[in-house]
Parts: sequence; C-alpha cells; structure tokens
Amino acid sequence: MALRNIVKDGDPILRKKCREVTEFNERLNVLLDDMRETLVLANGAGLAAPQVGVLKRVAIVSVDDAFYELINPEIIETEGEEISPEGCLSLPGICGTVNRPYKVTVRAQDRFGKTFIARGEGLLARAFCHEIDHLDGILFEDKIIDYYEEA
Ligand code: CO
Repeated sequence: MALRNIVKDGDPILRKKCREVTEFNERLNVLLDDMRETLVLANGAGLAAPQVGVLKRVAIVSVDDAFYELINPEIIETEGEEISPEGCLSLPGICGTVNRPYKVTVRAQDRFGKTFIARGEGLLARAFCHEIDHLDGILFEDKIIDYYEEA
C-alpha cells in the first residue's frame, strides 16, 4: 500500500465527471487499498478517487465502525433531510452546513464487481452523498448554506 497525495481545491480534476469502472482488476485493488491508507492517515470520513487524481467512479466511506468501498455507486432512494456541518479533505479550512437527505440507500459494486446495497442515516448518509457528488465534479462548497469557523 502507498499513500497518495490529496488533490486540493483549485485543481481542475476535482471538477471533472468520473468514468464508470468496467474492469475489476489488481489496479483497482491497489487504488482502493491506497485510498484507505490515505484516508486513515488524513482522519477523514470519506475519500473519492478524483481526490487522489484518478477519474474513476470509486469512493470509500469510513464512519464509526462502518467502512464501505463503493464502485460505480448510485443513490437509489432518499428519505428526510438534515442540515449539518461538513468538511472535505480537498478543501482544508472550509467548513459549512449542507442540506443532505437524512437517510439514503446506495447501490454500488464491490472490488470484485458484485452489486450490493448500503443504507445509511445521519453522518453515514451525508458521507455517501458527499463522496458520490465528488464523482460528478461537485464539491460541498457548492451547497454550503452557512459558513462557520472550525472550533
Ligand atoms: Co470531499
């Protein structure tokens, strides 16, 4: 495994739409393992492939004890909404509240190409939405309702 550099705001790669993953191979495994190591060190809740310079529909989410690898993820159902603070490893120093669904259902593939369903609420739902937005070049700052200073 290896650490990858996290791309910061202003880099045009963060604004591109990512390509669907069609090959579930060793290269994908290495990417996922590297992203996990990078996320753990950065102490974040999630990381999307474009944040490490790879324009593929791959994201990982780590909230409490839950860890997900999401390949070609899609939000297929949402319920409720919640305005809550958010941040992003690519936008250091920026904090703000964003309105997200309170519950989401995600359909994705795992690293072997097998389709699965993941459900989350609260912070986990927020992380799913935030990371999937990255795959379409959307940053949370686009959706900030109120900026605030980090304590
Ligand atoms: Co982010």
